[in-house]
Amino acid sequence: MAGATMDKVVSLCKRRGFLFQGSELYGGLQGTWDYGPMGVELKNNVKRAWWRANVYERDDVEGLDAAILMNKLVLRYSGHEATFSDPLVDCRKCKKRFRVDQIEPNEKCPAGGTHDLTEPRPFNLMFKTTVGPIENDENIAYLRPETAQGIFVNFKNVLDSTNRKLPFGIAQIGKSYRNEITPKNFIFRVREFEQMEIEYFVMPGTDEEWHRRWIEERVAWYHQYGIRSENLKQYPQTGDELSHYSKATTDLLYRFFPEREEGKQFDEVEGIANRTDYDLICHTKGGRTTFKDGSFLVNEHAVLKQTYFDQATNQHLTPYVIEPSGGVDRIALAFLMDAYEEQKLEGGKERTVLHLHPDLAPVKVAVIPLARNKPDMVEMAKRIKKTLQLTGRMRSLFDDSGNIGKCYARQDEIGTPFCVTVDHQSLEDHQVTVRHRDTMLQDRIAVDSLQGYLEERLR
Ligand code: GAP
Repeated sequence: MAGATMDKVVSLCKRRGFLFQGSELYGGLQGTWDYGPMGVELKNNVKRAWWRANVYERDDVEGLDAAILMNKLVLRYSGHEATFSDPLVDCRKCKKRFRVDQIEPNEKCPAGGTHDLTEPRPFNLMFKTTVGPIENDENIAYLRPETAQGIFVNFKNVLDSTNRKLPFGIAQIGKSYRNEITPKNFIFRVREFEQMEIEYFVMPGTDEEWHRRWIEERVAWYHQYGIRSENLKQYPQTGDELSHYSKATTDLLYRFFPEREEGKQFDEVEGIANRTDYDLICHTKGGRTTFKDGSFLVNEHAVLKQTYFDQATNQHLTPYVIEPSGGVDRIALAFLMDAYEEQKLEGGKERTVLHLHPDLAPVKVAVIPLARNKPDMVEMAKRIKKTLQLTGRMRSLFDDSGNIGKCYARQDEIGTPFCVTVDHQSLEDHQVTVRHRDTMLQDRIAVDSLQGYLEERLR
């Protein structure tokens, strides 16, 4: 039995229609990926599982879907316009550009010898565009580099329209864009990605306790959906690693690179930050955006104060914020890697299987006619598929793409928990065979009981 490596998962994702290189037909566009038929289902399921846990199953979190394009002042007062940059170096020989922290000293240059690097200089990672027909500096807007700012600028709107009391949170899922200098490792570092973020507003003084609680919540969510303990670890950032807005941040690291040497296998899948009152103070009338070097910007544009009225003390205050922030793409990749297994079967056969949690599996049930040239059998399989699909609770697929062995192999590779086979006998006794993905055991079930049988096991 063998587990995942990034290369194996990349290969499966292409073969089975999870992911394709963005704009592949025209040679690709670096840092972009298109989610195929299986990928879009997996990604939607990841987002659904996150939303269910963080919005529906809690009583203290509201949802939001803010616009990607925002007034550029949002990203000025958030500090992104001035500081959202990576230090870059250029090689004078091969003319390539690198992030300072991603190039080893004395690394070989393709033009010969080692790289001849320039001094580092900052490179802003935000994509610019123009709003309206006239292209000038006035009309610049940025594609948001994080969903968080859309939440901060709507704090007062959500508070006033829902009458929430502290503590409460606002959750959002959506696209973010970063002009990464070196996009790499499949969907791990890309230029267009999705984030799932919560800004959880608390009374100052209770922030450390809530930070601890959110770390526990988020770790439990990964385990609930199948991530193994040995593949997920917590990393509290120290000193200079902390962003200028953060009092404390714990990163959740996943073992994305098991093939690498010890110490280089894990990387960030999510960060959980204590952002203090930094952001609400930036985005409030007369507030200040303070930078790491002590300089600051006074907010002369916000039209109101984003504060909270505390009835207990009769005072307006600025809440503190705890922010669990994960990337959908990285999280989906972590689930794929954790679920991947190559198995040796009896008789020397092998199979590759994705042991995805049923909630995350792109397809829940595949219905397969044993012989695709038998119209009665095909008809019965299609009818069963349609009935299961109409429940709205299980994505079902009619699969007659090959012989039964090939269909099972394909369904194992995309992580389908159940295959239902219609055979000659089914036409007479109205029973079908249900094959379980993980054990490969088979049950004979009456068609009338099939829906209940599957629902019970998918729950
Ligand atoms: N609002 C806080 C924030 O955006 P971040 O650590 O920069 O914090 C949060 O991003 C998460 O977004 C990361 O943990 C990662 O999962 C994801 N992410 C960030 N940049 C990414 C990129 N270039 N490609 C894919 N995912 C990315």
